[in-house]
Amino acid sequence: MQEKLKEIYDPQKFRKDGHDLIDLLADYLENSKKIENKEVLEFQSPDKMYQKWNQEKFQSLKGMEFYKAMIDDCTNVHHRQCIGHQISPPAPTSALASLVSAFMNNGMGVYEMGSSPTAIERLVVEVFAKAIGYDNAAGGFLTSGGTLANLTALLTARNLYKEKNIWEEGSRNRKLALMVSDQAHYCVDRAARIMGLGKEGVIHIKTNDQFQAKMESLEEAYKRATDEGFEIFAIVGSAGTTSTGSYDPIEQMGSFAKEKNIWFHVDGAHGGAVVFSEKYKTLANGISLADSVIIDCHKMLMAPAILTTLIYKEGNKAYQTFSQDAKYLLQQHEEEQWYDIALRSFECTKEMMSIKVYSIINEHGEGAFNDFVTRLYDLGDVFYELINERKNFRLATKPQANILCFQYYQEGMDDVRISKMNEEIRKQILQEGQFYIVKTQLNGQTYLRTTIMNPFTTKNEFVSLLNKIEKIGSQMT
Ligand SMILES: Cc1ncc(COP(=O)(O)O)c(C=O)c1O
Repeated sequence: MQEKLKEIYDPQKFRKDGHDLIDLLADYLENSKKIENKEVLEFQSPDKMYQKWNQEKFQSLKGMEFYKAMIDDCTNVHHRQCIGHQISPPAPTSALASLVSAFMNNGMGVYEMGSSPTAIERLVVEVFAKAIGYDNAAGGFLTSGGTLANLTALLTARNLYKEKNIWEEGSRNRKLALMVSDQAHYCVDRAARIMGLGKEGVIHIKTNDQFQAKMESLEEAYKRATDEGFEIFAIVGSAGTTSTGSYDPIEQMGSFAKEKNIWFHVDGAHGGAVVFSEKYKTLANGISLADSVIIDCHKMLMAPAILTTLIYKEGNKAYQTFSQDAKYLLQQHEEEQWYDIALRSFECTKEMMSIKVYSIINEHGEGAFNDFVTRLYDLGDVFYELINERKNFRLATKPQANILCFQYYQEGMDDVRISKMNEEIRKQILQEGQFYIVKTQLNGQTYLRTTIMNPFTTKNEFVSLLNKIEKIGSQMT
């Protein structure tokens, strides 16, 4: 045996490196929480970052020195001033489970390549189904992200449409389409195009001033589309939208879909987790009417990326998404083989995702999800009040969730100038590195966008951020 291979798999080296690495990460977590730690990220341009890591000095770093230097150049998602994207500061217990998944590397496609995590995956799905309000007929699985989960659910919807097996027969010469609001995440549009529906296959529902789908527009667009010969096989509701965290009228959309006998899918990648919050779950009222729901665990449920739960109201429908047989792997499925997950999932091999969610429930109780979601949505309200009472700030809309979009402006400026100024403010904030916030386009204008993802963020950080924006903005005029 080559010495090199022995060294790679040396248990003692692994033990030592593992201890050192956990110490490094625990120090990092401790440091992230310190008030005096001001830096969320040290921004460098992509080219500069590449040049830095292309140097001998950095490439010669090994072990903990390497990890330390690499982590220093990452965005610190555990930092209280990291309020940009919708990504969890992962719960340490979930990150440890992630390491176990990476190390055990059971591929999960078939039962014997992941027996215990397969059983645990079923338990995790049951927790989600119950929170949604589904009965025992529900079922589902975990998959690699909201984008893939939405595509998978929509493929199921299309395959079950009018009991035609499109998976086998194709959909030539048919004008199939789905309906979704103009604020939906771009992955729904992408899913439609992947399914061969083309641009025309996405029929947009207009939104109101809170960026929620308008029922009148849904009804009117549905009529127009069907008059034009489109076959609508799915309606998608957002709970909530990516840009502003707005919840579509889920109950009404669900009832409309039922009336027309169309599949109703809820994209709850961000805000579906609200079903775990006693205080806020009414935002997603009617979610149990959905034929399928997705919820990202790496967004609002403290798990490391990437991990999404796809739950079907009638779990057995998921077996009809892919009716193709991979004979070397899967048995003929005369009856459901819930334990061979690749029958239903897009992935063949996937991570042992279930343990990342289960570890949180197991260690901290399901109530942890209630605490996390409720705290973040409460903070959304706190930040809203602060912005609302400040002169020279305006919100895109009153937030329903933990996502806030707003602009700094000066009296007399037109919208174009305000957009430009906010672009510039965001750029400067990114380069300074004390806060991480992002931007978005709404009604053709640039807004600063913040997503409060850290339960340890407080009013103080919001005040400092607004002061900073005000300072940068006032120097620009
Ligand atoms: C509403 C919504 N749907 C879907 C997605 C895509 O999810 P993922 O990034 O897990 O693929 C996002 C991501 O931001 C989202 O906000």
